[in-house]
Amino acid sequence: MRPAVLATRATFPDVTARLSQHFELEDNPTDEIWSREELLRRLRGRVGVMSTGTERIDAELLDACPSLKAVCNVGVGYNNIDVAACTSRGVLVTNTPDVLTETTADFGFALMMATARRIGESERFVRRGEWRKTGIHDHFVGGDLFGATLGILGMGRIGRAIARRAARGFDMQVIYHNRSRLPANLEAEVGARYVDKSTLLHESDHLVLVLPYSKDSHHSIGAAELAQMQPHATLTNIARGGIVDDAALAQALRNGTIAAAGLDVFEGEPDVHPELLSLPNVVLTPHIGSASRKTRLAMAMLAADNLIAALGAGERAGKPPTAVNPEVLRGAKP
Ligand code: DGY
Repeated sequence: MRPAVLATRATFPDVTARLSQHFELEDNPTDEIWSREELLRRLRGRVGVMSTGTERIDAELLDACPSLKAVCNVGVGYNNIDVAACTSRGVLVTNTPDVLTETTADFGFALMMATARRIGESERFVRRGEWRKTGIHDHFVGGDLFGATLGILGMGRIGRAIARRAARGFDMQVIYHNRSRLPANLEAEVGARYVDKSTLLHESDHLVLVLPYSKDSHHSIGAAELAQMQPHATLTNIARGGIVDDAALAQALRNGTIAAAGLDVFEGEPDVHPELLSLPNVVLTPHIGSASRKTRLAMAMLAADNLIAALGAGERAGKPPTAVNPEVLRGAKP
């Protein structure tokens, strides 16, 4: 009998074919979002799962599915997974770093530009047929990116890819804050200067968030932080919902504490804070930072390669390329 695995969301035919070479695969071609009960029911008795950020993999699920050995997430972020609970039960967790870095940095830049130059607002205006009603000097004037100060909160791979674009392509002064400072050679390579968080908030014309979500980064940007930003500043969140206090942000956007926001991720997504939906000065996108055709395929293929290797098959058997808790492979108890 071949190992039984589950792919929770619809994926590419090439990925399904690759998984089917090794496993009894149950997939989800209609891409229906399963309820928690449905997910548990389908996962029981299986040894591996190719999951996405939509599914919560926690102690309750692991206890209900004791045969599970590998959770291979399609995504670099894995805050949907209780990694400690997996590790203590000997369940391997993998993610999909690197393959999405440049695509996500492109998107962060695009969202920041759309926000600064009011592209969402002006596009809706054209569609409403209101173009004839306006003047010239104040017609959707926004902020420049070229030559401005870019602040980056979180300086992992995606943060560095954004910094390079900003410093080399847009002549921006790039400042950043991160838990740990980059080595000097890497700072010079990406063209970024380390500052404390308060300086970052005060000096950024455009602030972009690229830090991972954890209980420590929950509401890293709330009313107190927004109050330290400049009234012409923009905020772009391509990291995770929950890093920003969305209610406080809505209030700051309404009061003119900051000029505008670009949001790809939300607290409680796919629900969006109702006030954000009604404000003109916010650009909203549905968590699509890594969504280029090439990158989404690469992510799914990497997750499949991880699953195959994690369950002891394929040419990398026992050596999944991007393990989050590799200590499980060494059989170590935490
Ligand atoms: C990621 O890779 O973490 C993206 O946000 C998709 O979930």
